[in-house]
Amino acid sequence: MSETIVGNDLQQAIHLLDNGECVAIPTETVYGLAANALNEEAVLKIFEIKNRPHFDPLIVHTHSINEIEKYVEAIPDWALQLMNKFSPGPITYLLQKKNNIPDLVTSGLNTVAIRIPEHILTLELLRNLSFPLAAPSANPFGYISPTTAFHVKDQLDSKIKYILDGGDCNIGVESTIIGLENNLPTIFRVGGIAVEEIENVIGKVQIRIESSSNPHSPGMLLSHYAPRKPLLFDKVEENLKLNSDKRTGIISFFKKYDAVENENQIQLSPNQNLHEVAKNLFAAMRKLDAANVEIILAEKFPEIGLGRAINDRLKRAAKK
Ligand code: TXA
Ligand code: MG
Repeated sequence: MSETIVGNDLQQAIHLLDNGECVAIPTETVYGLAANALNEEAVLKIFEIKNRPHFDPLIVHTHSINEIEKYVEAIPDWALQLMNKFSPGPITYLLQKKNNIPDLVTSGLNTVAIRIPEHILTLELLRNLSFPLAAPSANPFGYISPTTAFHVKDQLDSKIKYILDGGDCNIGVESTIIGLENNLPTIFRVGGIAVEEIENVIGKVQIRIESSSNPHSPGMLLSHYAPRKPLLFDKVEENLKLNSDKRTGIISFFKKYDAVENENQIQLSPNQNLHEVAKNLFAAMRKLDAANVEIILAEKFPEIGLGRAINDRLKRAAKK
């Protein structure tokens, strides 16, 4: 295939998706690699382009709660309360699927992961399609998720025809995934909506985010979001000493480290704002992955609000 085109031509994106092709789309979390969720052949292309194993199910994107109703058996009360508060937004619901959702999308599970992304261009796109979009993050399987159109082009060039450019992603980490376990609302991936925010609406929830390399349940492969270079999470001072013979890059909250050259360290938020950290995290990982360093050290962030999702991604990036 020839070079991938990057642009903001909705008609072009609609045309390709209508014809069963994949298009990269912007969302508030990360860029997605989208295709018609009701068309198995189109969905198959997503798995092929990403090199993604078929046992890892996809998230379905729609533009409204009414649309969600077309694809799930029911919207239970806890989910409806969260939808009314947070959707469109960075939260995904695991709900009993209807038969119109192909098994390929859900890897044979009887639940479908479904969400309403909060991005003007993509909402407009979804309103102009007669089907929902299945879309995993638009990166090769296992690598860092893309938060700019350039990141997508960098890795999927010539593998897709079109990238719909909606600018930098505002949230920067993937959506929070919530479903039921033993009939209790349970978070299976921490993400763009904080646990505290969810508990403010529906009360205490369970958290099940530690997982093996065999995610028959909510897809949390341990080694994920990883740069090519080794990343060491937490205990930065200690790791600096242990690796004093290596060229090192550092991802920190706001602190500067004297032992490392300025150009190889990134302070994610000098104002100590976790939203800003989340927004810039993946770009920082990519930058240091491409820099002239041998290893990347990353601080542990406060385990509150978005800090949980940030630490979760760094921990997984470190598990290579
Ligand atoms: O923010 C996001 O959610 C982004 C944007 C593009 O929407 N998408 C995203 O997709 O992060 P992906 O494929 O990278 O991650 C989807 C996760 C996987 O870990 C998958 O295993 C899980 O959702 N998942 C999908 N369907 C599921 C289901 N029925 N039950 C449990 N987990 C499911
Ligand atoms: Mg992903």
